[in-house]
Amino acid sequence: MDGRVVPVILDVDTGIDDALALALAVASPHVELVAVTTLAGNVDVERTTANTLAVLDWLGATDVPIHRGASRPLVRSHQDAAFVHGTDGLGNAGLPSRARALGADRGPAAMVRLANQRPGELTLVCVGPLTNLAIALNVEPRLPELVAGLVVMGGAFSVPGNVTPAAEFNIYVDPEAAAQVFAAPFKRLTAVGLDVTQRVVLSRAIWQATAHAEQGAAALVSRICRRSFVERDLDGVQLHDPLALAVASDPTLVGCRESHVSVAATGEERGRTREVGSGSATVAATVDAERFMRLFTAALALPDA
Ligand code: BDR
Ligand code: CA
Repeated sequence: MDGRVVPVILDVDTGIDDALALALAVASPHVELVAVTTLAGNVDVERTTANTLAVLDWLGATDVPIHRGASRPLVRSHQDAAFVHGTDGLGNAGLPSRARALGADRGPAAMVRLANQRPGELTLVCVGPLTNLAIALNVEPRLPELVAGLVVMGGAFSVPGNVTPAAEFNIYVDPEAAAQVFAAPFKRLTAVGLDVTQRVVLSRAIWQATAHAEQGAAALVSRICRRSFVERDLDGVQLHDPLALAVASDPTLVGCRESHVSVAATGEERGRTREVGSGSATVAATVDAERFMRLFTAALALPDA
């Protein structure tokens, strides 16, 4: 990896793995976290925004602007994933809440403004439903030319979904938004779906090693993953969103196919992502999971498992 620093707008529905993506973005020497936009997804937008504030302040990143975004999908009612992330969205960890001011403009407006201020420079990394980005695209159809690229955590291409057999959560929640995003002419659109994100897992051993951490990213991991390991008795926490963030600064972590991606919107197929022939989207098919885990644990300074 060269010394490149990628300026990123991170669009989140914080969320346990979103919190870990925020931690990676703050810690990574290869990422400039320009702004964070929030929206309804794992829990409602009030909570995803409060969680984002709490996580960034916990990590000392008090100067990163946070812009609250969409409170529901484009044309549907919102469906959350509180059963996975806890009623507070952060594994019921009880992080101290913070009250610093949010950015004056809303999520989609901030995306458009920042892309115009730094044309051709920014990479959008969207790790929640694609509602904010779809709204931004409708307001500023030139957005695809104004950004350097887009990384989406979303889709299940050659594997079953995690909400229904057909669909991954982020795409399922707002399939109309996802269809608009995948149809837009981004120069570099990389889809980081369950095919690869389910293969990068924070193990029980890594979590146990954080037990005595009192501050920083290790203590964050200890707190927000407790419910997953203790109450839900999972073997591991899948690092969907951190992998998407990492791919923005190091695309060689994944092996890809160039495809056209279609998104089904209705019925049992709602949220299914399909590769339909060749096209300009880059769909991640393989991942160097060991290298990613080394990078993740080193950046967050997690104790040895
Ligand atoms: C995605 O859904 C959310 O629950 C996670 O935060 C991740 O973005 C995985 O399907
Ligand atoms: Ca997410």
